[in-house]
Amino acid sequence: MNAWQITSAGGIDALSATTRPVEQPAHGQILVRARAVSLNYRDLLHVLGYADQDRWPLVPCSDGAGDVVAVGAGVTRFKVGDKVAGTFFQRWVSGNVSPAVMESALGGRQQGMLAEHVILSEEGAVAIPAGWSYAQASTLPCAALTAWHALVTKGRVRAGETVLVLGTGGVSLFALQIAKMHGARVILTSSSDDKLARARAMGADETINYRQFSDWEQRVLELTGGLGVDHVVEVGGAGTFEKSCASARFGGNVWLIGVLTGFESTINPISVLFKSLSVQGIYVGSRDMFDAMNAAFSANELKPVIDREFAFAEAPAAFHYMQAAGHFGKIIVEQM
Ligand SMILES: NC(=O)c1ccc[n+]([C@@H]2O[C@H](COP(=O)([O-])OP(=O)(O)OC[C@H]3O[C@@H](n4cnc5c(N)ncnc54)[C@H](OP(=O)(O)O)[C@@H]3O)[C@@H](O)[C@H]2O)c1
Repeated sequence: MNAWQITSAGGIDALSATTRPVEQPAHGQILVRARAVSLNYRDLLHVLGYADQDRWPLVPCSDGAGDVVAVGAGVTRFKVGDKVAGTFFQRWVSGNVSPAVMESALGGRQQGMLAEHVILSEEGAVAIPAGWSYAQASTLPCAALTAWHALVTKGRVRAGETVLVLGTGGVSLFALQIAKMHGARVILTSSSDDKLARARAMGADETINYRQFSDWEQRVLELTGGLGVDHVVEVGGAGTFEKSCASARFGGNVWLIGVLTGFESTINPISVLFKSLSVQGIYVGSRDMFDAMNAAFSANELKPVIDREFAFAEAPAAFHYMQAAGHFGKIIVEQM
């Protein structure tokens, strides 16, 4: 079968097209013919050589959807012909994240989805929501679930609350949709006026160009009568954390998710103390959360925002496209 693999820290152009044998599923495993993969910023970081070098050659990408084409002994959750999406963590059904769960991340500690055939644990897959395409379903395991985990599972977001969303990448647009689904008011930032207009068309109530207004946290305070927001979906990391804290209300929540601005900085944590903020790290989510999210998305007819689809052979171009950060929503690699 065809697959892409990371073999060095040479970056996107060093991604290598390869062929690998199709494995047969062992006890409790399923063999999936992958049909669509969606890219996450984390996959880009892997391709750039940031992590899990001990697993090279590594098939990248955590998120994919496809057809079950064989099942191992003892499998009861799926049968041949079922349409499934993998779970980011192959061993996180419920409860808290743990070191064992972390070892089961697809496209990181384990071989990922950017291949024609993929072996998954039967516990590490969910049925695709009815009526969803493979491409749509491939957007769910990481970006959607992370936003859901923060705002719903942990955040219990509700009508009347205000949510601050940073940027218009995969996690952020799901956060916008999930917040609106719950009746919350959304303030969204972007570097692009065009993207801000598209976000308003999706329901964003207030928008701020963070390039134009480098003190965007002051704008957030003005838009909330000086009080600040109830939830910040913090995908920026070191470079935005203090501004996110400044944007939150007293007793508000900062959901720490991303590293878009890098990994290191000097952070003054005093506003966390003064404002009694809850700062909670979020790492994707469990299969139980995934099932709850899919039920809610189906009931509310929420569909993901897909920016562009690339052919399997064009996977490096898809990563370059993500790196350029011109996208709005999800980037897909099709594997028909
Ligand atoms: N903890 C977890 O479980 C988890 C799960 C998923 C993702 N993440 C992390 O969350 C982050 C987002 O991931 P993604 O896959 O959604 O990324 P993505 O789709 O590549 O999002 C990129 C977008 O982020 C926005 N952005 C970049 N720098 C920004 C800044 N300084 N302020 C505000 N927005 C900024 C830009 O939006 P505009 O073009 O609109 O400016 C950019 O287009 C990444 O750091 C990723 O590693 C973590």
